[in-house]
Amino acid sequence: MGVWKKRTTEEIKNRVFDALQHNANFYENNLLGVPASHLDSKVFPEDSPLLKDAPFLTTLIHNPNHIGCHTLGDSEAFFAGTQELEREVIRICAEDILHGEPEQHDGYIASGGTEANMQAMWIYRNLFIREYEAKAEEILIIGSQDSHYSIVKAGNVLLLDVHLATVDPTQRTIDRDALELDIANWVKRGKKYFIVVANMMTTMLGSVDDPDDYLAPIEKRGLSYRLHVDGAYGGFFYPFSNQQGSKLHFGNPKVSSVTLDAHKMVQAPYGTGVFLARKGLIQYVNTDQASYVKGLDATLVGSRSGANAVAVWMILNTYGPHGWYEKVQVLMLRTDWLCRQLDACGVRYYRQAYSNIVTILASDIEANLANRFGLVPDNHHDPNWFKIVVMDHVTVDKLEPFIAKIKQDASTELLT
Ligand SMILES: Cc1ncc(COP(=O)(O)O)c(C=O)c1O
Repeated sequence: MGVWKKRTTEEIKNRVFDALQHNANFYENNLLGVPASHLDSKVFPEDSPLLKDAPFLTTLIHNPNHIGCHTLGDSEAFFAGTQELEREVIRICAEDILHGEPEQHDGYIASGGTEANMQAMWIYRNLFIREYEAKAEEILIIGSQDSHYSIVKAGNVLLLDVHLATVDPTQRTIDRDALELDIANWVKRGKKYFIVVANMMTTMLGSVDDPDDYLAPIEKRGLSYRLHVDGAYGGFFYPFSNQQGSKLHFGNPKVSSVTLDAHKMVQAPYGTGVFLARKGLIQYVNTDQASYVKGLDATLVGSRSGANAVAVWMILNTYGPHGWYEKVQVLMLRTDWLCRQLDACGVRYYRQAYSNIVTILASDIEANLANRFGLVPDNHHDPNWFKIVVMDHVTVDKLEPFIAKIKQDASTELLT
């Protein structure tokens, strides 16, 4: 582990307040040309005693705009202090979590997983068009039936076809034979370039793709592809729960980019997706017309809050790599407990071995019970599955009443 350290609350506070010192300060400096300011002082007073020991809230009211991508060299000088913390977050994610080489990645804090996934597909669409003179109709996005809907949304926005590979209904792994036939058909229909999005824990089931299942039929035909990993849910979990077995990281030369979401497992505020790509890629979406932004803008979002980057930096540095590993292990232990209880009750479910998502067959529990305990269905009209996500607040004490109710319902059924 290199960049990522565990720091004390005091060290974190000092580092963030110091970063703010290196930002332009709307309260004190003459900043006449920026169409931005601190948060409204009538509503959010800057002298509130609450802020003295609150680096995140202080950053929030100082309101730095992290517009642009800060791993590329030139960036807006006004917010250089907090941009530095964002660069550290990018390095922690790309290098310490995803085994990348030092300083070989670009990235930024995106609005979320949807944007980060779309950013990747936007880059590869442009790359294929620019470098291979591809036509948009020759490019295909490939995900799976279990992929998040942002893949389909991106295809819609970017005007690209999307293929969702069939998965095995029990294992939730890619059906390689079906994909082989599907790729052959798409190739016959003129597809030559492939944007593959492999899942590092799917939204509903927590399943993890073997990227080679997607790539085998493409590589076999000598066709061009780029591989993006959707780790919006699993990016801060799976690398810790399965440290040896994962292929979904920058140590795998086939992986070009990764999405992670700090507003899921990291419990950062909404608006903290993380987009990461190997160097040399993000330039394909640099907007030259963004000439008033120093360093231009290679992000989908434009203006974005620097406070979000600070929040992720604070959380990751509070735990450090070992603390984070331990946190994941605790969630795994709770998930194991839940699975043992469900097994004892004869309730069927899917759980990927390294996951904290347990997805129960809808036929095996009452919909009322699922609703009462806030389980999420795959489909609100006609559910096949209900999922439990063992997050920080989902303790064994909270799971126990759910299991007790399943047991109670089962014994009442036996008596009637
Ligand atoms: C696997 C996966 N990808 C992408 C997303 C989209 O993330 P967001 O809602 O942050 O845009 C989600 C959200 O649940 C997800 O689970």
